[in-house]
Amino acid sequence: MTANRPTAHRTTLTQHLIEQQREHNNIPSDLRLLIETVSHACKLISYHVSRGALGEVLGSAGNENIQGEVQQKLDILSNNILLEANEWGGHLAAMASEEMASIHQIPALFPRGKYLLLFDPLDGSSNIDVNMSIGTIFSILRCLDDKNPTEKSFLQKGSRQVVAGYAVYGPQTMLVLTTGYGVNCFTLDRDLGSWVLTHRALRILVDSCEYAINAANQRYWYEPVQRYVNELIEGVDGPRKMNFNMRWVAAMVSDVNRILHRGGGIFMYPADKRTPSKPGKLRLMYEANPMAFIIEQAGGHATNGKERILDIQPKSLHERVAVFLGSKNEVDRVTQYHLKS
Ligand code: F6P
Ligand code: MN
Repeated sequence: MTANRPTAHRTTLTQHLIEQQREHNNIPSDLRLLIETVSHACKLISYHVSRGALGEVLGSAGNENIQGEVQQKLDILSNNILLEANEWGGHLAAMASEEMASIHQIPALFPRGKYLLLFDPLDGSSNIDVNMSIGTIFSILRCLDDKNPTEKSFLQKGSRQVVAGYAVYGPQTMLVLTTGYGVNCFTLDRDLGSWVLTHRALRILVDSCEYAINAANQRYWYEPVQRYVNELIEGVDGPRKMNFNMRWVAAMVSDVNRILHRGGGIFMYPADKRTPSKPGKLRLMYEANPMAFIIEQAGGHATNGKERILDIQPKSLHERVAVFLGSKNEVDRVTQYHLKS
């Protein structure tokens, strides 16, 4: 940039992705266009979310998704926005979503590309009608058999993700993204309609004194989680000899976003005794995996209590998993308690 030229230059998402490609050769133009299309869909979702009651999109749609959860009108709208935005571009072989039982094939009239897109279109459903933060989580994989993608094509370990990101619809709309070289955050400039790079290279400290868990489930927790959380609650009077603070937004996207921006913390959604056959509440492929990739890229750890989330071989699209993620030393501690039990 010329020294004397007055400028109001800000780095946009497009410029950032082009610079990443020049530096690391990891974002070819079809992948960049795919990321831009997903981010564009998030702008549209953000718009509808912000309209609230004025947009007549609040409330239940009156049916359940594959997981037996009541679908909100905005869940369905967000799902449709992501499908429509991404069908025609020619970058995808197929899509999968929390809101659809099986995979979504690209209609025959459009060309097929070499990537797979997975998403949770609107995370934190219980927050929708009460004007609290919610978000969209997404994950991009390579399709290894792009001629005829099936559910099996999606069942790749999280360590194979090429991109993971989320948009959070809160007081500001933010997009947090990793392409495998750190984590960057863009804030939506609503006047210009563009994503502006506002937080570079987010990092999570190895230690923290803030935790997030739904404590209403305490009586169902298994012993390692009981022990870990009890020690946090005991604070200076217990073995940890320091006080901890608790926060729970009840939208994973916002709890993880807080950890990234605060620079530390631990988020937990453990398996529990309510339904012993269920290995947790959150979904591996479009909630835990993208968040684990982001958290690791920011210097944190993410496990299911026993092993690294990104090393889990998925067996089905909507598989559930226990989640412990955030500051390395805290995640390692609760993981150790599980491994010793
Ligand atoms: O997607 C599931 C989800 O809404 C997460 O976003 C959130 O962390 C969790 O469920 C909240 O669960 P609970 O209602 O048990 O607090
Ligand atoms: Mn969710």
